[in-house]
Amino acid sequence: MHRLVSVTLAVMLLAGCTGPGEEAAPEVGTGGTGPITLVIGRDTTSYLRPLLDRWNAAHPGEPVTLLELPEAADEQRAQMVANLQAKSERYDVLALDVIRTAEFADAGWIIPLERAMFPLDRFLPPVVDTAVYQGKLWAVPYSSNAGLLYYRKDLLRREGLKPPKTWAEMREQAKRLSAKYDVGGYAGQYLAYEGLTVNFAEAVQSAGGKEIISSDGAKVTMDVGKAEAGLDFLVRGLREGWIPRESLTFKEEESRLAFQEGRLLFSRNWPHAYGPATQSAMAGKFAVTGLPGIDGPGSSSLGGYNLAISAYSKKQKSALAFIRYFTGLENQRRVLTDGSFPPVWAELYDDPALIKRFPYLPVLKQSILNAQPRPVAANYNQVSLAIASAVSRALTPPFEESSGDIAASLKTELNEIIRAR
Ligand code: GLC
Repeated sequence: MHRLVSVTLAVMLLAGCTGPGEEAAPEVGTGGTGPITLVIGRDTTSYLRPLLDRWNAAHPGEPVTLLELPEAADEQRAQMVANLQAKSERYDVLALDVIRTAEFADAGWIIPLERAMFPLDRFLPPVVDTAVYQGKLWAVPYSSNAGLLYYRKDLLRREGLKPPKTWAEMREQAKRLSAKYDVGGYAGQYLAYEGLTVNFAEAVQSAGGKEIISSDGAKVTMDVGKAEAGLDFLVRGLREGWIPRESLTFKEEESRLAFQEGRLLFSRNWPHAYGPATQSAMAGKFAVTGLPGIDGPGSSSLGGYNLAISAYSKKQKSALAFIRYFTGLENQRRVLTDGSFPPVWAELYDDPALIKRFPYLPVLKQSILNAQPRPVAANYNQVSLAIASAVSRALTPPFEESSGDIAASLKTELNEIIRAR
């Protein structure tokens, strides 16, 4: 039955027609077929090659070439924007950070897609929302993301401690155990880039605040008091030393390495650090749980990547077929098992065999469902740069400006950016 459905869809796709009751979407697949290029952030878990080889073996006429961009979100954007502004046809499929949908759609750099072509009702709902802008679908969810707390279960066990649920518990454990075991206490990603915007947003939310900008990007909703509390939590850690100062240079990879090399007791990171840690000196010594907050569980930002088709691609039909393959159930299972990335298919989070292998899956599912999306705004990048630079000022010794002053001036600056759009 499944086979029949997919064959029918494939035929429809090639013929460029739609199923009964569906509206024709002339933009979709208007380009041709042939070799395509997938552009994606650096494959730090080395899982992509075999997945692409499977596609290539089955589609000799439309092989996919992998083009890896730098690891940091901002650098990925810079390279994609340069390519698209030049109207280059070199990139066909773009693995687009969830925060970029609005900007890229607004600029006309990616093409709208027909919802009925993808099993979106089987994906986690907030994940699908990240690919929608002004009522249209612009990309297909490929991997989701939510921040988790990595912790040294061996050391906590030895001390008879449970992983912290509140900032106060984490501070206390980090202070005491880092001195006793000569290990750093806690760290996230504090270099000034998108990762810092994420860490700040999570701190504000975990202090009881809601979002920083309304979901449509039209209004600054940040609660200055909660922003101050979130900043103070981080500043205090840096002042008191249980957040090591070297973390001011951390992006995801630096924190991943610090944790798996045994230099941190606690670390905030995305799930893709899990697989590599199980292959490291920390194997068997660590576990992950949800982020802590000011007086109970904290809350994560919603991350992830969606696959979009470049408006300048000459192989849009092949690109579309590849996206259907790459976001399909079997491939999604491998995205988790081989890549350690959170899949977008809801059912994989309830699969007992997968839960056995990745015990954090239920926590991750909840973290994704409870995560706060970043605003869907065409000028998101400008907003984020302002946030990252203000937060970086707050976190940099000698901490001359107070968290309250920085939160207040950030709000003013964000209001100006929103008003100018
Ligand atoms: C992860 C997330 C992405 C986020 C980035 C920040 O890659 O998936 O959404 O923007 O980290 O560094």
